[in-house]
Amino acid sequence: MRQAPHSPAGETDRKVTVLTSNRAMEHPVGSHTYRDRIAVVGYGYWGSKHVRVLSSTPGVDVTIVDGRPARLSEAAAHYPMARLATRLDDVLHDIDAVVIATPPGTHAAIAHRALESEKHVLVEKPLATSVEDAELLVKTAARCGVQLMVGHTFEYNAAVWKLRELVRSGALGRILYVDTARLSLGRYQSDVNVIWDLAPHDISIVSYILDEMPSCATVWAHSHISRQHADVAYLRFDFPRSQTRAYVHVSWLTPNKVRQVTVVGEQKMAVYDDMSDNERIRIYDIGVDVQDIDAPVEAHALPVSYRTGDIVSPYIPFQEPLLVQDHHFIECIRTGSPPDTPGERGLEVVRVLAATDQLADVAGEDVVAGADVSTDLAGTGSVPVPPAVNGHRIFHSR
Ligand SMILES: NC(=O)c1ccc[n+]([C@@H]2O[C@H](COP(=O)([O-])OP(=O)(O)OC[C@H]3O[C@@H](n4cnc5c(N)ncnc54)[C@H](O)[C@@H]3O)[C@@H](O)[C@H]2O)c1
Repeated sequence: MRQAPHSPAGETDRKVTVLTSNRAMEHPVGSHTYRDRIAVVGYGYWGSKHVRVLSSTPGVDVTIVDGRPARLSEAAAHYPMARLATRLDDVLHDIDAVVIATPPGTHAAIAHRALESEKHVLVEKPLATSVEDAELLVKTAARCGVQLMVGHTFEYNAAVWKLRELVRSGALGRILYVDTARLSLGRYQSDVNVIWDLAPHDISIVSYILDEMPSCATVWAHSHISRQHADVAYLRFDFPRSQTRAYVHVSWLTPNKVRQVTVVGEQKMAVYDDMSDNERIRIYDIGVDVQDIDAPVEAHALPVSYRTGDIVSPYIPFQEPLLVQDHHFIECIRTGSPPDTPGERGLEVVRVLAATDQLADVAGEDVVAGADVSTDLAGTGSVPVPPAVNGHRIFHSR
């Protein structure tokens, strides 16, 4: 394996500011003489964005690999300097790293081939479509001594960093629940259902801001159009340490586009709206208090009282998350430091997705999994849990 040399002293190349891991740092992109040769496999909707970002990154030579010649013609028109190939094998001897942006079902085989050839690999989400494949990738990267990173783009998003800071600082109070909605008239995928396509983002965001993986998943999913893969799903994830829940709604079959994460705390609530241009995070100083039952109240009084205050929208500096992510990958290749979203992180998310898998893939059926009736997370009450029959089951992610 070829390792890029570190920046020689005295070089004066310009520095660009890269936001990475909740902090802005001076990153000497382009400040070394060695050029990183990166192949992007899959020049589709998302791969073309990787190519745009990497092509404009100093010190990077891009090779575009796509099995469809028509996609390569399109790539050649936009990036005349890029080298093109229809097969990764044809260029493996001549590159240092691979970015994989092909359909999820192909990730494991392509990534495994690249890792075995001692190339650093960035795989788009989800890392793989089975726990076994994801585990194999993690092990192979470790054995071959190369970087394996997963493209959990939202973990490189300044708005998500802000949400995490709000939760961790206690500014919202105890987190009562998190709600996410990722809806649109989406691109139906042929090899995965809507959960594997969209929920990796929500699982990654929520577990990142709560700093914990869920222990239990509950799923409702249905295939309305194709009868092949579920296109609408509602999921619930339980987080034991935080004693909270996340409700995740993903859909390819909704007329308007929604990309929203709501964190409801006892003190305040925060909404991250990824569709907003200038107010991506709003913090609502509002809450609901239970009335003191001993207090003398009117017979018609509500059982709760409302607190209302300011709505604050903090300034979030914008830097394209994909650019931050890809620059971080390059930084890890150059310095040998582990990625913020290593293969192990991708594996954690795949484990959760796999827990929903068996039931949500039942074509044409209403699918309900995880009939968890314990409504009392504090454990003060006890409600009997029904037996797991007829597709009504509790699925633990690990
Ligand atoms: N991080 C994000 O926000 C985000 C957003 C969208 C998509 N994605 C991910 O990116 C990946 C690609 O999604 P997409 O929407 O761009 O798909 P797409 O169908 O638009 O593009 C996939 C491309 O890969 C090519 N391809 C397929 N198999 C190949 C192979 N074996 N070798 C070479 N080329 C091959 C196809 O010809 C196609 O051009 C998926 O894993 C998806 O989950 C991530």
